[in-house]
Amino acid sequence: MKKETIIIIGIESSCDDTGVSIIRNRNVLSNIIIHQEIHKKYGGVVPELASRLHDINLAKAVQQAIFSAKINQDQIDAVSFTLGPGLIGPLLVGASFAKSFSMGLGIPLLTVNHIQAHVLSHFIQDANLNNCYPKFPFLSLVISGGHTQIIKVNDFFQMEILGATLDDSVGEALDKIARMLGFYYPGGPMIEYFSKNGNDKKFIFSKPRVSGLNFSFSGFKSDVFQFIKKELKKNTLFIKQNLYDICASIQKTIAEILLEKVQKAIIITGISRIVLAGGVSANSEIRKIFLYFSKNQKNKKFEVFIPKKEYTTDNGAMIAITGLLKYERNLFDSIHVTPYSKFKKF
Ligand code: KG4
Ligand code: ZN
Repeated sequence: MKKETIIIIGIESSCDDTGVSIIRNRNVLSNIIIHQEIHKKYGGVVPELASRLHDINLAKAVQQAIFSAKINQDQIDAVSFTLGPGLIGPLLVGASFAKSFSMGLGIPLLTVNHIQAHVLSHFIQDANLNNCYPKFPFLSLVISGGHTQIIKVNDFFQMEILGATLDDSVGEALDKIARMLGFYYPGGPMIEYFSKNGNDKKFIFSKPRVSGLNFSFSGFKSDVFQFIKKELKKNTLFIKQNLYDICASIQKTIAEILLEKVQKAIIITGISRIVLAGGVSANSEIRKIFLYFSKNQKNKKFEVFIPKKEYTTDNGAMIAITGLLKYERNLFDSIHVTPYSKFKKF
């Protein structure tokens, strides 16, 4: 007989955030995220340090998640965890923990593809600003620190990549530019913060010309680097005096690059349901521009699903919901699975 209530614990450890969440059916009971502040001063994630901190944080996060969810651990039906892609050390720590947890409690194991989880986070109850689930098929723009992809989603586990970055991901480019401007890692939120009071038309940066639905952010990043270096030669205080405008102009250009590709994808596929996902989709200018153009373009209107901020950056809830959707389809995994760092096809 089908169980009416399914409780899943989701474990995320693919990069620097330790995320553990407990969901009951599609409702989030707890969503604990422990950020690793140590990477700030290094300007990026140091894999060895991230692995050690996941090792320290995971047990704490699991205890907190169970406590906040107000359940007993023997009520958990299955454990899901990120198998890849991501940093191999951090993934191995999460995998070992999840396997032990599953063996200790005698419950099934569910492995999750991190990118798929970003997309499927929209199936958490009330996960997006529309407060409803996107209907299939839809196009998902996944914009994170590790990836930039346009994915055609035909069904929960039938996804097809239509375009991807040929070099840097959008988050990576933002983090590198932010570092040059003197910000800590992760730089995306800092660029957003300083954009607020800036003039986004003050500086013009060239947009990459990439065919089809692919992206390239390395050229854009170099363009910004060259421009700032040139200006610094003329005026050593250039960054300080123009910080707000530089950030606002960068943010606006990136939002436009993403929007233009998605508009192209809508024309090519005829699908006009757009689902934003990944850490960079927390950005308010990107959210604003997509919302505005979804409503205000004659003959080119589209429906856009904007994720709630808590489900944009890495979190355990997106791993738990993906686990739940796999559980419902009996897509269980063996204890012998091993993590992978590079993206594999879905
Ligand atoms: O999805 P995510 O948490 O991790 C990966 O799967 O990579 O994304 C992290 C990325 C980082 O590059 C970070 O700078 C960026 O998301 N990010 C933002 C914002 N919040 C996080 N970028 C722009 N604006 C934000 N508010
Ligand atoms: Zn992610």
